[in-house]
Amino acid sequence: MSSAPFLLTQLNGALDRTTFNSGSEPLNKYLREQVSQDVRRRVAACFVATTDGKRIAGYYTLASASLLLSELPPGTGKKLPRYPTVPAVRMGRLAVDQDFKGQGLGGALLADALGRAVGSEIAAFAMMVDAKDETAVEFYRHHGFIALPDSPRTLFLPLATVQDLND
Ligand SMILES: CC(C)(COP(=O)(O)OP(=O)(O)OC[C@H]1O[C@@H](n2cnc3c(N)ncnc32)[C@H](O)[C@@H]1OP(=O)(O)O)[C@@H](O)C(=O)NCCC(=O)NCCS
Repeated sequence: MSSAPFLLTQLNGALDRTTFNSGSEPLNKYLREQVSQDVRRRVAACFVATTDGKRIAGYYTLASASLLLSELPPGTGKKLPRYPTVPAVRMGRLAVDQDFKGQGLGGALLADALGRAVGSEIAAFAMMVDAKDETAVEFYRHHGFIALPDSPRTLFLPLATVQDLND
């Protein structure tokens, strides 16, 4: 993952959310109309990359989640305690404005999200994502995410693997 010359910050009122265009209307609309409410209600945290503290070049959201042990690939599930679920961090949305695609920003946002999850004092076994289409699945697989056997658009990355890279 390469790093890009962007400023990463938490969503705040000084940012212009109206011009963001990822090419996916649901992801644009979520940023325009829904995310502030979700942040206020504490159902999502939103982090953005800006070029100048105003224009949003990309964003992602994080929230607590859980994975059913029975959903995990057998090799992974076997190594975990026999609780019905394991804690996870969900990256609910990830999008880069079309003007900034292919410059390493998506990878940098993902790395930032993984860093926050690994650095948290609250334990989570994995980061998980629900990919919106096959292109997104390929993006996550490229970064080491593993698809759930019975829900191939839900992918996870054990955070221990990220921690090992940082140690
Ligand atoms: C998916 C998305 C976030 C990628 O952002 P980006 O800034 O263009 O990607 P980057 O330039 O950071 O690419 C990082 C790496 O991922 C790879 N990559 C990018 N898109 C990929 C894809 N669809 N499949 C496989 N690999 C991909 C790049 O080749 C690069 O590889 P490298 O680090 O080995 O050189 C962006 O295209 C986007 O916003 N798409 C629309 C919304 C979306 O699909 N979101 C996904 C969540 S549902």
